[in-house]
Amino acid sequence: MNDLVWQHLDLCPHGNPDETIADAALAVRDGTLAWVGARSELPAAFVAWPREDLGGAWVTPSLVDCHTHLVFGGHRADEFAQRLAGVSYEAIARSGGGIMSSVRATRAADDASLLHAAGSRLEAMIAQGVGAVEIKSGYGLDLASERKMLRVARELGRGYPVAVYTTFLGAHALPPEFAGRADDYIDEVCERMLPALADEGLVDAVDVFCDRIGFTSAQSDRVLEAAVRRGLPVKMHAEQLSMMGAAALAARYGALSADHLEYLDEAGVAAMKAAGTVAVLLPGAYYFIRETQLPPIDLLRRYGVPIALATDCNPGTAPVTSLVAMLGMACTLYRLTVAEVLQGVTCHAARALGQSARHGALEVGRQADFVAWSVDTLAELAYWIGRPLAARVVHAGVTVHTERSSFDATGQPQQQRDAGSRA
Ligand code: NIG
Ligand code: FE
Repeated sequence: MNDLVWQHLDLCPHGNPDETIADAALAVRDGTLAWVGARSELPAAFVAWPREDLGGAWVTPSLVDCHTHLVFGGHRADEFAQRLAGVSYEAIARSGGGIMSSVRATRAADDASLLHAAGSRLEAMIAQGVGAVEIKSGYGLDLASERKMLRVARELGRGYPVAVYTTFLGAHALPPEFAGRADDYIDEVCERMLPALADEGLVDAVDVFCDRIGFTSAQSDRVLEAAVRRGLPVKMHAEQLSMMGAAALAARYGALSADHLEYLDEAGVAAMKAAGTVAVLLPGAYYFIRETQLPPIDLLRRYGVPIALATDCNPGTAPVTSLVAMLGMACTLYRLTVAEVLQGVTCHAARALGQSARHGALEVGRQADFVAWSVDTLAELAYWIGRPLAARVVHAGVTVHTERSSFDATGQPQQQRDAGSRA
């Protein structure tokens, strides 16, 4: 039996900074939380267990990145330069760049190089406290290439200390082989690709890019219908560049989430509320494409739609590997509160994956996935920009990352410094 009590920590067990436990303890047996509470109330059964001291750190559940396109070939720094010169994201996409340029690079890449590139992005995420991540396909756009992306995503989940949830996004863009035949491509997605990939166990959920440079509402409807018919949960890239009624459509299928949402209207908000669909906001994409239309935050609040945040890590609109950085961006750009953003990357993000029972909270019986942060107050997580804050990342009770300090106080290189030491 592998037993350990983590102590000398302040606990924020559900990601809500208004519900905390000072001087808490976590008892972990074989990677699972056996007890959570104030250290003074630790039951006798755990008192003799070995202890690990976290030096007074704040502890939250591991973060959940509920919307990423982590697996892709190449990058699009050249397009970034074009956009700086004034060409819009949409204009680049319409001229054959954008998503299609990543499709060409992803089709040309082998499994090993995709795994290597995505693995390095994933390592950066884990080092910043991510314990669960959603990974979409959508840069393959043919059966073999979509399969390759999803296989790589599954491999990442096996190779790294993080839970990976895959999403089939075959309807991300129209591949050149189907130019002028979008409806035929949707047939291919619904009748050939989705069934095959789902049968191979590669698909946890299905997504569609419903937009004027993506697919129409009618085409998106067909994909969602095909997914739900197979018992798969759905989500949607909705109202990112224009208002298409995509969020309301997603809600009709009981979608887990509708994502982006800058152009969402009140009817869409009401439909999401009625369906229990989470609003996933992606401030990195908003920032990177210099969007100026703000998502309807006040309406989402007024209707009580849960708000999650994610990196959207992708080569075109969000070359972002820091979910922590999204906290500060969401506060500054969207005027979300610290309490909203912290829940947005824990409990609400878990719900956006349909995985509330597994992620986003620290409770007895759950896997011990948590982060000890080098901060005095949780607001610092949304305050610092670019400073590594995760002192220790724990996955299934095992420390998988610790803060390293390269220099001691005199400027001399030093060895790894652990957050806390065995008491
Ligand atoms: O979430 N909007 C569509 N999909 C991605 C961007 C894809 C790309 O440009 O490569 C997004 O923003
Ligand atoms: Fe996206």
